Amino acid sequence: MTDKELIRLAFDAMDRAYAPYSLHKVGAALLTKSGKVYQGCNIENAAFSPTVCAERSAFFKAVYDGERSFEKIAVVGGKNGEVTDYFYPCGVCRQVMSEFCGDDFSVIIAKSEDDYLVKSLNDLLSCRFSPQHIV
Ligand code: THU
Repeated sequence: MTDKELIRLAFDAMDRAYAPYSLHKVGAALLTKSGKVYQGCNIENAAFSPTVCAERSAFFKAVYDGERSFEKIAVVGGKNGEVTDYFYPCGVCRQVMSEFCGDDFSVIIAKSEDDYLVKSLNDLLSCRFSPQHIV
């Protein structure tokens, strides 16, 4: 699966966003090491704090299915689903990535299929708290 293909799937996922409050639609496509893709979108809530981000909804679907090893994730987002800038994963999503992924997990932050950044999890959350700290 190329970065470009994964970005396209993140754009498809963004169309599923439920974001009546912020109007910011976000999509994610998560590639497992076994080659499966899990898509996620943000799902907002009138009480605000129950809102879940696109990245976490993708991870939670995958983990529910028994997946534990991940290669990379593509993320896109923007107001009313118009992607005009890079949409960086929030800190909570970075911490969820940290639970299941190593330093070299790739996070593709895209404006389009041709304009994107690739960051490692270590770039996005260095010196992180991870499962090995509580063994
Ligand atoms: N959001 C995501 O889906 N992913 C992130 O990493 C950052 C924020 C969502 C949450 C909320 O529905 C909207 O974007 C505005 O914050």
